Formats: sequence, structure tokens, C-alpha cells
Amino acid sequence: MVADNKFQVLENMGKSPNVVREKAAVTRPRRETLNGHRSVNLWFTGLSGSGKSTLAHAVEERLHLMGCRTYVFDGDNVRHGLCSDLGFSLEDRSENMRRVAEMIGLFIDAGVISLTAFISPLEADRRRVKELIGAENILEIYCNCSLEICESRDVKGLYKKAREGKIKNYTGISSPYEPPKQPDLDLNTGEQSLNECVKIIVAELKDRGVIL
Ligand code: ADX
Repeated sequence: MVADNKFQVLENMGKSPNVVREKAAVTRPRRETLNGHRSVNLWFTGLSGSGKSTLAHAVEERLHLMGCRTYVFDGDNVRHGLCSDLGFSLEDRSENMRRVAEMIGLFIDAGVISLTAFISPLEADRRRVKELIGAENILEIYCNCSLEICESRDVKGLYKKAREGKIKNYTGISSPYEPPKQPDLDLNTGEQSLNECVKIIVAELKDRGVIL
């Protein structure tokens, strides 16, 4: 028998009302101590082609070399698995955000620095992510790159298809992107070098005491 105090009864949870949460003895602070750094989520937002994934992977590389435990969640990759049933309507994008928020909540508890590269176009959805996992656990990083530059890069050829009407609801063309009003970091990924952007983020993590 497990002692009663190991359980915390939750209020009615949608389709699974009779579930109780089990508390772990190995906690986030203990994992953070073992890792030698705090856990946090770096939330990269911006248009497709604004450099979110490239920057997330470059920051991960730097942190990994410093001995940090990290993981990158990339929109395109997550949409091949966990969110493969979702499209690009605003409702589906919201559900995409909700699932990702739940996932990074677990990674924060696991003591890991997660880096998420999702367009995440709506302010309300980004706010809900912060509400779900705690604003203090997220560093919102705006990959601030004009549509003109993103479209001229068109790495995947998707802007061209969107302009031709072959892709519906394409962010920046036929679906909205709301820039964050007060991001923690506003990076000009159209003009600043990758290396400069990485340095700014790593310096911010040091300032905040996430890493030493
Ligand atoms: S989000 O809006 O729900 O945050 P997410 O980051 O997961 O989007 O996926 C964006 C990626 O999906 C883009 O980088 C692009 O490669 C691809 N994509 C395919 N269709 C669309 C579309 N209609 N709008 C935006 N991106 C799309």
C-alpha cells in the first residue's frame, strides 16, 4: 500500500475525472541540482523561415557543449508525430500549442532545458502556454524577421506555393501572425548573425541564473 500523502486528488479533469496524481520523490530541484543548471523553456516564435529552428539548434549545440541537458522540439517534427492529426486552421494551431505546452511542462519538471521552435502565431495561444506552465519557466524569444526576407529565403518553397494558392492558411500570406508585444528577447534574425543571436541568448540564461 502506498501512503495516502503521496497522492493529490485533482478536480474533475475532462474525460478522466477519477484520476489522482502521484508525487515523485525525485523532484525538479533535485534533478536541477544533479544537472548543475535550472530547467527552462526557450520559446522561439516567428514566421516560417525566420530562423527559429536554426537558432534553437545552434543554442542547443552551445548549451550541450557546456554540459547542459537540452532538447529541441521543432514544429515540423512534432507535426510528424504527436500532432500529426492537426492542420493549420487557427483551432488546430491552438491545440498544437496546448499539447506542446503540456509536453514542455514535463520537460521542465524533468530538469531539462527545452527549446521549442513553433510559429505560434497568436498572442492568446502564447499567453495560454505561459499560464499552463508558468511564465517564470519560459523565455519568449521573438525571431523578428520581415515577411519579405522570410519569403525571399523560402527554404522549403512553401511561400511560393502559398502565393500560388496551393497552400491555404499560410502564416503571413493568408493566415495571421501577431508579433509578441513584450518578448523577453527580440532578435533581428533577418540581419543579426546566428552567432550573435546565440551569444545574446546564452548571456540572458546566465543573467537569469539558469546556467552558471
Ligand atoms: S504553428 O502555427 O502551429 O505554430 P508549426 O510551427 O507547428 O505552426 O508548423 C509550421 C511549419 O509547418 C512551417 O515551418 C512550414 O514548414 C509548415 N507549414 C505547412 N503548412 C503551413 C501553413 N499553412 N502555415 C504555416 N506553416 C505551414
